[in-house]
Amino acid sequence: MRRVHLVLALAAGVSLLTGAPVVFGQTQGPETIMLTGSPMGGVKFAHKIHSTQYAAGKCDTCHHVSKAEKPLASPQQKCTDCHTKTAVAPMKTKLQAAFHNPMAKQGTCIDCHVKENAAGKKAPTTCTGCHKKEDK
Ligand code: HEC
Ligand code: HEC
Ligand code: HEC
Ligand code: HEC
Repeated sequence: MRRVHLVLALAAGVSLLTGAPVVFGQTQGPETIMLTGSPMGGVKFAHKIHSTQYAAGKCDTCHHVSKAEKPLASPQQKCTDCHTKTAVAPMKTKLQAAFHNPMAKQGTCIDCHVKENAAGKKAPTTCTGCHKKEDK
């Protein structure tokens, strides 16, 4: 009996991972986003697969909750509306820091990439792995 239950549990787990896609509202966001501004080149960001698969539907992995210093105007407002090239008070976190620290060892994007790579994935962690001169 125990064995049967284990098999059923495994099957259920697999269908959760590979089964019907999670359906979101219209605010799901763009399929792909070109993040520009860095002299290193633009970053072509596969938004849809990141939000639905890599972050498993947890939008707040990247879109943080509203903060008192500068409240959100909409739930997934553009980072760049608030995080600008140089931080203007009351903002402290500039554009680069919203995504990663100066050597790109830590941050919104890198923390997950490092974790995923430790588990055998190949998410970019080098400057040119994300920033490409040809992407504008
Ligand atoms: C891995 C990080 C990440 C995750 C997870 C994520 N997003 Fe995004 N999203 C971004 C980035 C980066 C942008 C571009 C912001 C910019 O242009 O400044 C963006 C842009 C958007 C935009 C467009 C905003 C605009 O006004 O142009 C919408 C809408 C959006 N996301 C919705 C969602 C929803 C809904 C989820 C969860 C299902 C989600 N996102 C999960 C990183 C993420
Ligand atoms: C409506 C304005 C607004 C938007 C939009 C916004 N942020 Fe922020 N963010 C803030 C404020 C306010 C703070 C806290 C003050 C500071 O650090 O400058 C903050 C802080 C941060 C921090 C510093 C760590 C922390 O949590 O305090 C990171 C990283 C960050 N934001 C990333 C992002 C990313 C990535 C996006 C887009 C997916 C985004 N932010 C969108 C206003 C915003
Ligand atoms: C929740 C985890 C997670 C977060 C957060 C995350 N990524 Fe990823 N990223 C991944 C995974 C997983 C892959 C795919 C690795 C593979 O296929 O081996 C990936 C791959 C990529 C790639 C390679 C091309 C592709 O789409 O497969 C780029 C570029 C990228 N991510 C950019 C970003 C940027 C920019 C951010 C921050 C706005 C970000 N990622 C945040 C998990 C994440
Ligand atoms: C996981 C992807 C990723 C990696 C790796 C990465 N970056 Fe970025 N970086 C971004 C994203 C996304 C932005 C915000 C959009 C933009 O400015 O292009 C950004 C922004 C920047 C900015 C701010 C540009 C401005 O206009 O102020 C600089 C500078 C920068 N990165 C340099 C680097 C350097 C140097 C490295 C390597 C040490 C690096 N990045 C690695 C994704 C990445």
